[in-house]
Amino acid sequence: MGIESMSQNKEQTAVHYPGENYEFSLSLAENCSDNALDVIREKKFIRERLLDIKNHDEKTFLHSLEVGNMTAFLINRLGDKLSKEEREILISSALLHDYGKTSIDPEILNKKEELTPEELTEIEKHPTETFYALREWNIEVAKVSVAHHEHQDHTYPRKEFTDDVMRERTPSKEVDKLSRILAIVDSFQAMLDPTRPSSIRSPKTIDETIDELNKKFILKEDKETIFLLEKYYYEKLDNEEKKNSKEQIH
Ligand SMILES: [Fe+2]
Ligand SMILES: [Fe+2]
Repeated sequence: MGIESMSQNKEQTAVHYPGENYEFSLSLAENCSDNALDVIREKKFIRERLLDIKNHDEKTFLHSLEVGNMTAFLINRLGDKLSKEEREILISSALLHDYGKTSIDPEILNKKEELTPEELTEIEKHPTETFYALREWNIEVAKVSVAHHEHQDHTYPRKEFTDDVMRERTPSKEVDKLSRILAIVDSFQAMLDPTRPSSIRSPKTIDETIDELNKKFILKEDKETIFLLEKYYYEKLDNEEKKNSKEQIH
């Protein structure tokens, strides 16, 4: 699949599908790495669901694309450690893991103040909603997505639910490796996000983020994922600095 082909020419990323919103195509080209874009280009279902997310809540859309970008970077770096099938499942889950948020009021999603218990219950429905929305399209993608909040102190959905529907756990009862990668990437993006909606959960520094992830995710493969994400962060920063200094010269 496309994830293996590194497209060098940014021109090629400006995709426009007949009948699909052009502004949507442009925001994909601007916000997505070529690798993640290849996957979107190939799968109409993913494009349609991303468009649903964009129409519902712009922040969730940009978060989904960035989680997709980070996952594409990881997949490239992990190489043969993931099979072709696992790569496809993982990148698709990364792009659609928060699809369930399209059934939550955007005012709740973007609320700056502390959420009420009722609003929290609403938010906590989203991994289950994602599962139901994706299972007929691809059950494996639905299974990986459903567990992306299971690592938290306050896990949701309940373990009984994920145990019923999820891919196998590891022998030590950790969630499946693809769900763990997705959970780490999702937390990493959310913790650093400067537009983080809640004033109670303000964005963290890169060092705080890495520390927190290392405490939560303790398996050997988890450490590799965290290490690679740190690399992603500094590479992106480096590219932005180079871009800025070029702009200043011109
Ligand atoms: Fe989520
Ligand atoms: Fe997320």
